[in-house]
Amino acid sequence: MRSAAWAGFLAVSLTASAHAPTSLKEAYKGDFLIGAAMNAALITGEDARGDAIIETQFNAISPADALKWAFVHPQPGKYDFTLADQYVAFGLKHHMNILGHNLVWHEEVPGWVFRDSKGHLLSRDALLARMRRHIQTVVGRYKGKINCWDVVNEALNEDGTMRQSLWYKIIGPDYIEKAFEYAHEADPHALLGYNDYNLEKPAKRKAAIALVKRLKADGIPIAYVGLQDHDSLTWPTVEQEDATISAFAALGVKVAISELDINVLPTPGGQPTADVNLHIRQNPKLNPYVNGLPESVQKELAARYAGLFRVFLKHRGQIMRVTFWGVTNGDSWLNNWPVKGRTDYPLLFGRNGSPNLSFDAVMRVASEASRH
Ligand code: GLA
Repeated sequence: MRSAAWAGFLAVSLTASAHAPTSLKEAYKGDFLIGAAMNAALITGEDARGDAIIETQFNAISPADALKWAFVHPQPGKYDFTLADQYVAFGLKHHMNILGHNLVWHEEVPGWVFRDSKGHLLSRDALLARMRRHIQTVVGRYKGKINCWDVVNEALNEDGTMRQSLWYKIIGPDYIEKAFEYAHEADPHALLGYNDYNLEKPAKRKAAIALVKRLKADGIPIAYVGLQDHDSLTWPTVEQEDATISAFAALGVKVAISELDINVLPTPGGQPTADVNLHIRQNPKLNPYVNGLPESVQKELAARYAGLFRVFLKHRGQIMRVTFWGVTNGDSWLNNWPVKGRTDYPLLFGRNGSPNLSFDAVMRVASEASRH
């Protein structure tokens, strides 16, 4: 019997084989969103070539810096939403998932936030009031447009203790709960998350799991954990990534791969980190690929991307979004961190805007999976 269901199946299979996906967003459609972080040149349209890549390849955007406290709220009572408004307008125009990043972090927050007009540190109540006002203003402005917010960024140390930021020192450990409460109050429909790096490390992961459990037990609506995934060719292993995603998914939160890039340059000190405060002096030995990435390393990088994407696909039900931290290699912060002025190759598009071997590898992984 040729049932209607069978006819439907045939139609779907024919469509699938007649039209192989050419973009990342199409290849991973139905699995998770594919995002890119937008710097100022992308947001303003100055980088038109990069914008065209975003429009063709991606369906989610993150603001590299445009929504951080220092940018939107540089002085007491003075907000500047020029860039942030353009960022959100870009996302609305192209029907993208628009992330808010971030509300409470120890970096890129002006010193005045923690002090009164005489320069003395604020009391707990005064800092909470300031935090609440900021969150209400920023989240409130984009209510219904930005649908996910990284509420707290990087609250944990590598050993799993709480980072001794001024947020923590002045308010205490519940500054995290309070930030989530205020964000929820400002937009009850927005999905709220905690974002950090190196959550693949057992001690840090354990602390993040305890944090998520504590928030959930207190009735705080945490929807996702962001794994930044500023990775290297060897860190984290696919097993570590797999176990980390499983551990968070088991808590009933989604996972966002929030800032993905793969550093191919030598890492002085050897320890994986994404601590923006790390500064290492230039040295030609630390910058070996100024004239191009050797083919052997390109292949190693492509295989590394494929390995990670296989893990992401395995967890497609738990992963809401995989976001790259930039579009082309020229955009990457890794060209200037932790050593200034290097030439890195961490993303899927070369400096000239062409897709590279890693792009091909990521596309291939999507077609390997027998799920259509
Ligand atoms: C952290 C932050 C990002 C960005 C990167 C460095 O991961 O979460 O916003 O600042 O550092 O570019």
